[in-house]
Amino acid sequence: MNVAHRVAVFASGSGSNFQALIDASEAGTLHAKICGLVTNNPDAKALNRAVKHQIPVFVINPADFSEPEVYVWELLSKLQEWNPDLIALAGYLKKVPEKVIRAYPNRMVNIHPSLLPKFGGKGFYGKRVHQAVLDAGEKESGCSVHVVTPEYDEGPVIGRATVPVKPNDTAETLAKRVLDQEHKLFPTIINQHLKTLKSP
Ligand code: GRF
Repeated sequence: MNVAHRVAVFASGSGSNFQALIDASEAGTLHAKICGLVTNNPDAKALNRAVKHQIPVFVINPADFSEPEVYVWELLSKLQEWNPDLIALAGYLKKVPEKVIRAYPNRMVNIHPSLLPKFGGKGFYGKRVHQAVLDAGEKESGCSVHVVTPEYDEGPVIGRATVPVKPNDTAETLAKRVLDQEHKLFPTIINQHLKTLKSP
């Protein structure tokens, strides 16, 4: 088992996917150490999860910077310090600056709660995704992990899990069914993707 890999996580909210990665790392099923959490939100529950597991945190909100280059420089500096092999976006609601994405080519992945390319792109986040799935009368939904490129949700999909859409589903019940799959899919696909990268 190669635990030398380092994964940094970006999350803005609850961080249940972040927790799934922490749990998998601690259980040894994710073959990587979580080397840090970046969040834009000082009230994110994800922060408490990081502190509880002694994971370094970096709170940085682009809205607090009058000069975008300074924000990018600070974010890149922190990442250089943590030296991750991979960055995992787990419910991160800010656009990652293009310069940061380009600094980690093929080394940044995102989890999205739909079967991409369906229901992805700008405006498709949170409950809106699941409501759109229901409104479209889909029989199946799920989640996707994709490599991050400068366009929202458009990088190559490297893993998917499907769930049925049930006749009485609400956006909430469907979200929960999808989220349960996300927690299994994300560590699995991160392991697979780490194997394709050069060893640290
Ligand atoms: C998940 O549904 C994920 O697919 C999306 O944002 C949500 C984050 O949930 N990108 P959590 O914060 O991990 O609970």
